[in-house]
Amino acid sequence: MKFDYKKYIRTHLLSLTPYQSAREEFTADGREMILLDANENPFATEVNRYPDPLQLELKEQIAEWKGVGVDQLYLSNGSDEFISNVIMGCCEPGQDQIVIVPPTFGMYKVSSRTHRVGVVEVPLTDAFQLDLPAILKAVDASCKIIFIPTPNNPTANSFDLNAIKELLENFQGLVLVDEAYVEFSTNPSIIPWLEDYPNLMVSQTFSKAQGMAGARLGMAFAHSDFIRFFNRIKAPYNINTLTINAALNRLKEQDKVGEQVQLLLDERRRLEEAFGSIPFIKQCFPSDANFILIRVDDSSLRYQQLIDCGIVVRNPSKNLNCENTLRISVGLPEENNRLIDALKSLSI
Ligand SMILES: Cc1ncc(COP(=O)(O)O)c(C=O)c1O
Repeated sequence: MKFDYKKYIRTHLLSLTPYQSAREEFTADGREMILLDANENPFATEVNRYPDPLQLELKEQIAEWKGVGVDQLYLSNGSDEFISNVIMGCCEPGQDQIVIVPPTFGMYKVSSRTHRVGVVEVPLTDAFQLDLPAILKAVDASCKIIFIPTPNNPTANSFDLNAIKELLENFQGLVLVDEAYVEFSTNPSIIPWLEDYPNLMVSQTFSKAQGMAGARLGMAFAHSDFIRFFNRIKAPYNINTLTINAALNRLKEQDKVGEQVQLLLDERRRLEEAFGSIPFIKQCFPSDANFILIRVDDSSLRYQQLIDCGIVVRNPSKNLNCENTLRISVGLPEENNRLIDALKSLSI
């Protein structure tokens, strides 16, 4: 398919000469070299050398795991960094806009504000699904990216994949589908759709099911022209050696990750059942992720009472259509027992 990525990005960045480390040119063929190019301390520790700017060893393994080419994969310091990269790379400050679908993940708006990029908000329907006619009516040529997290945060449900397909076919800009919780979802990843939709970008993360939130590692999958572009504008060493090594080890433990995901899904079902017998929980929204959104009688009161019981949940009530809600992550079985006991004790 004929595709010109240049129409999606900021023109002044096309001529950017990226930072280049001298080492990249000479270490690619695997030859043993004496490294006197980067003013490092030569005494060996696990981290005395700068990391590979393109993280090729890790990318080769992730690419194989996800069924894409290395040239379709970009790694970021958490998905948060990629969100910032894509806004900075594609949106002209004071001129272009992004589109979000509230209630939605808060970083899209925060990041657009830091880049002085406008935000068009098109609310989800009452069933927390995409309102496609409203989206297509609200957007214009200034709307460069739409952010679609599925499963969504804070609502926990997944969006209808047909609606996402329709969006890809009718929205003029980039569609960034944020699959941070995909391992918990009954929907498959839409990474294979990259073949048909060059305006699609998919992001995933090591922070959720992969259990590496503290290491900060996000994965973005896109047309190779975009990946080459992001590699040119990124900070040279955005992924550190400790994170690269931790991820290489985690990739060998996918059986264990699968078991943990299954246990968390079983625990989610147990929590959902228990919530059904708590009188002040008015509604438990369907979840396709590792957290649950509930509606209670008074979210500020119940939030504080849980804090007093030593349990921190999230109160997303300020989000559109989330009045009196709490968002609760599925914890370890003992932690979930403590939560259920606390909720029962507050019901008396
Ligand atoms: C939908 C969604 N995307 C992205 C992130 C952030 O991911 P990362 O830890 O990789 O920056 C979160 C974190 O809560 C999220 O809910």
